[in-house]
Amino acid sequence: MHITTRIIPQSQPSIGIIGGGQLGKMIAQEAKRMSLKVHILDPDPECPASSLADDLIVADFRNQTAIRNLSDLVDVLTYEIELADSDVLIDLSRAKKAIHPAPETLKIIQNKYRQKVFLQEKNLPVPNFALVEDIDGSTNNAVLKHFPLVLKACENSYDGRGNRLIYEKEEITNVASEKSFGKWMVEEIIPFRKELSVMVARNESGQVSSFPVAENKHSDSILDTTLVPARISKCTERMARDIAERTVDVLKGSGIFCVEMFLAENEKILINEIAPRPHNSGHYSIEGCSISQFEQHIRAILNLPLPKPQLMSPTVMVNILGPKEFEGEYYLDGLNELLTIDGLKLHLYGKRISKPRRKLGHVTITAASISDAIDRSKKAKSNLRIMNKI
Ligand SMILES: Nc1ncnc2c1ncn2[C@@H]1O[C@H](COP(=O)(O)OP(=O)(O)O)[C@@H](O)[C@H]1O
Ligand SMILES: [Mg+2]
Repeated sequence: MHITTRIIPQSQPSIGIIGGGQLGKMIAQEAKRMSLKVHILDPDPECPASSLADDLIVADFRNQTAIRNLSDLVDVLTYEIELADSDVLIDLSRAKKAIHPAPETLKIIQNKYRQKVFLQEKNLPVPNFALVEDIDGSTNNAVLKHFPLVLKACENSYDGRGNRLIYEKEEITNVASEKSFGKWMVEEIIPFRKELSVMVARNESGQVSSFPVAENKHSDSILDTTLVPARISKCTERMARDIAERTVDVLKGSGIFCVEMFLAENEKILINEIAPRPHNSGHYSIEGCSISQFEQHIRAILNLPLPKPQLMSPTVMVNILGPKEFEGEYYLDGLNELLTIDGLKLHLYGKRISKPRRKLGHVTITAASISDAIDRSKKAKSNLRIMNKI
């Protein structure tokens, strides 16, 4: 473990973030605007947030000593990834350290099966699911009625990496023997009309504030595009926000949460998963809303007032993902054309190496209408190319 220190005397509270990826960087950018001190823990000394950190602790997210060292440096601890060691965070919060969202909430969310059981027990709508080891030998489980199904690794999976589509019962055992992912769960496929998400913030005083509903398009299980306002009826918009707020209501802790949902036939909404942190589908709020998800998160964890985010104009966010063809250093081709597009803002995360489907940045386009924003986002996509440096 290595710590670089440039501590400056401070009057403002200091924030510790476990994870220095793009989410940590964008939290830090907002924190810096308010002159808050930011201390970061990440295994990569060149992580996106490293250039903004007052201190960077270079260590694994599960390194308990490093997490305790970070905790000693700050007034409030938060995290931008679900991989943080929740047991040490639970210990620290019992010793009265301010950690947001609550580590107990992180522990529930870290495991997709535990998370779904929790939501189901709270009468929140989720797809049919079961733990693979519980269905062995059983043919009458509701979830096995219709194939294909989706097998999901319960832990350590993100951006679709732990998900497998299966077409017959026999495949369950084959996939579930991939031990590197630990336990597996099986889930019915929802033939959704749209994927939606809502960011919801809550502070310690109990004030709750949700963002407008986002419509998300994934490709290969990774978020590709977010459109706001979502192209849904007023009634569905209200329902989605209501489910998201009810979900956050049953979770302990302050901070921002993302509730990802499927909009199925007959306007039925089912929860896919929750993230106890800022989320890729909330990036649109930086340019699109009166307050960004990152500022709202900072306000929530410091128990400051939470304004109601207003959508300032229709907004489209498009991810810049590493091409499938190579891994290595890269440059952006087509930048000049890209930057001539009206209402476009470019965000680059500062990752030196591109990997297949790695999130390298995003663009946000605000426009007078959602169809204008969509047209310009298509132009942006066709202009920008990630090229291998060698
Ligand atoms: N039960 C399901 N029915 C239909 N599509 C699904 C289902 N579960 C996941 N997906 C698709 O895969 C994407 C990623 O799945 P998710 O479980 O959210 O994994 P991750 O944790 O990798 O984001 C979802 O956004 C959705 O597009
Ligand atoms: Mg997801």
